Amino acid sequence: NGTVRVNMSNVDSPLQIFVRAKKKINDIFVEIDDYVKDAVIFMHAVSGENGIATPQDVANVESYVCKVQAIREVLKRDHMKVAFFGRTSNGKSTVINAMLHDKILPSGIGHTTNCFLQVEGSDTDEAFMRTEGSEEKLNVQSVSQLGHALCASRLQECSLVHVHWPRELCALLRDDVVLVDSPGVDVTPNLDEWIDKYCLDADVFVLVANAESTLMVTEKNFFHKVSTKISQPNIFILNNRWDASASEPEYLEQVRSQHATRCVDFLSRELRVCSPKEAEERIFFISAKEALLTRMREREKPVSSPILAEGHQVRYFEFVDFERKFEECISQSAVRTKFAQHSRRGKNIAGDVMAQLEQVYGTATAQKAAKVEKQRILQEQLSSVEEQLTAITRQMKEKIGRMVESVEHKVSLTLSQ
Ligand code: GTP
Ligand code: MG
Repeated sequence: NGTVRVNMSNVDSPLQIFVRAKKKINDIFVEIDDYVKDAVIFMHAVSGENGIATPQDVANVESYVCKVQAIREVLKRDHMKVAFFGRTSNGKSTVINAMLHDKILPSGIGHTTNCFLQVEGSDTDEAFMRTEGSEEKLNVQSVSQLGHALCASRLQECSLVHVHWPRELCALLRDDVVLVDSPGVDVTPNLDEWIDKYCLDADVFVLVANAESTLMVTEKNFFHKVSTKISQPNIFILNNRWDASASEPEYLEQVRSQHATRCVDFLSRELRVCSPKEAEERIFFISAKEALLTRMREREKPVSSPILAEGHQVRYFEFVDFERKFEECISQSAVRTKFAQHSRRGKNIAGDVMAQLEQVYGTATAQKAAKVEKQRILQEQLSSVEEQLTAITRQMKEKIGRMVESVEHKVSLTLSQ
């Protein structure tokens, strides 16, 4: 079907921190699962009539089987989530497409994205979409079809459409990154609802700003709200459409430093989500449109407008640099927030099951000790009976001996008369 398979080797990607951690914690939960099931078999073996374990002990251990199963299910679905926000037409959808190396989401002038779109990996070869609360899979072959399907379904701006894209086609999706596109923050009064529905479990936020203007109050307000609901959110700022600077090279440095200062100020002094130094590492000047074009060309996909503006390579490198820093940030954050809790619960379960087994062991030991004590008392009683018997036998022997002697004496007396 003309699809080019990207064979991006991603063993060096910082996303591997998450991928490896996920594999490891999954393996550990397989072991915990085995351990708990063994414990159940053991408990059954030592319960029943005159058993050491009570039915309550057995039920207690059995209850952990379901708990472990539930955690394993959640673990399988755990992913890294990045959400993109910014004003209409700043290029949010284009940034996502560039990161995915393909035109997946509809983009264009005017107000394009009219609901939340969550792009995630699909395990099958097909691309499909699913609206919130429905199990129906709508086939997606191309972007225009996707755009059409989205328009046709007349969704509310705060509703969510899942776009499942074949993992094989994109390294980010293969490594369990989920990308959430949003309508412009300027088109809705429902920012609180957005945050509650889509932001609370996001590992990274990307503010897609327009380098042709400056950070807007609506964009700032949105992130003020985010940072009151989430402690220390990870925020990147992309000054997009930086290709516009090519037409005014004499002001390039001046404009760049003006934007940079404002962005650093916003993150460090206004939102207080990081230090000024850290903020500098979170701000990039890019052109998503150029990055997407470059990548489409690399994959030999047909593209329009072949001419890129002066300095496009520098902007592309900065885009790649952003992706690297973003990958480091999201994988570390996701490992911390998603797996720390699971590993604590795993540890508690293993501890609880061990306590149950120890209790049964304790009961068994006590029963054994009681039996030994009973035997000892019995033995003592036997010994004393034995001693008494010996004494009685000795006395009897003496008595008989004396009787025999006296009889012999009497007989000899009688004979000698
Ligand atoms: P909404 O979905 O409407 O909120 O917009 P959006 O933020 O998703 O913007 P979108 O990606 O749809 O881009 C809007 C228009 O800007 C499209 O025509 C893009 O091709 C164009 N565009 C995006 N990024 C760049 C860029 O870096 N440079 C230039 N020159 N144009 C861009
Ligand atoms: Mg859009």
